[in-house]
Amino acid sequence: MTLRLAVVQFAPAHGNVDHSVQRMAEAIASTQADIMVFPELATSGYFFVEPAALRPHAMPLSHKRMDALRAASDATGRTVVVGFAELDGDVMYNSAAILLPGSNPVVYRKTHLFYKERLVFAPGNSGFVVVDVPGHDCKLGVMICYDWRFPESARCLALQGADVIACPSNLVTHIWRKVMPARAVENKVFLAVANRTGAETVGGETVAFNGDSVLYAPNGDVLASADATADSVLVSEIEPAATRDKTFNAFNDIFADRRPEMYSLDAPR
Ligand code: ACM
Repeated sequence: MTLRLAVVQFAPAHGNVDHSVQRMAEAIASTQADIMVFPELATSGYFFVEPAALRPHAMPLSHKRMDALRAASDATGRTVVVGFAELDGDVMYNSAAILLPGSNPVVYRKTHLFYKERLVFAPGNSGFVVVDVPGHDCKLGVMICYDWRFPESARCLALQGADVIACPSNLVTHIWRKVMPARAVENKVFLAVANRTGAETVGGETVAFNGDSVLYAPNGDVLASADATADSVLVSEIEPAATRDKTFNAFNDIFADRRPEMYSLDAPR
């Protein structure tokens, strides 16, 4: 059984949640896809260095400002992954909402905070989250941007059975392109990188984002890619179940061949 996996690349408006939510709701309504992945912090914008500046743009997972996205997901049957600034009590997390049509949303809170994110966000405490995609034989896992630098992130998701890893991103370097396909290959999963474009300036410092969103096949091949600057929607038809056979010859299976007892620092040498 196949499904259509999409990433949406755009430049969220800094500090204008309603505007970005409206744009994303329109994209959900108009894109023929079963899973749609939007960038990191796509509701709020990225660059905040003071909690008080971010707080008006942060919200709980269940909040009326998310309603347009949830309604679009429910109306279209599409599963949606969208980065947002989450407010839980007094604490803010760099999170991804996983909107499941007909079901309650699930949240992933970014595990590895990048650069000045640590001035405004708490490190994620959700653990790595994998969900069943409603209406499809597909398990979807989520990591956020800088999580890519830690092979453990994608590995934890794949070991939980993820067929597809969504990676909402605000990537600011180019080096990720050398490594991200390895996350697909070493876990034999599909990987959807939704990066943003544009730049944000706060306190005289500018952070620029690289676009180049991409969908990777389990062998690391590029199924679809965007350029550095254009608003883009990439869609690829994939077969999630094709990821479940982790063999690549008659003798080797990349999961069965793992030897976790040898990975411990206490392992015999
Ligand atoms: C990043 O984690 N936004 C680079």
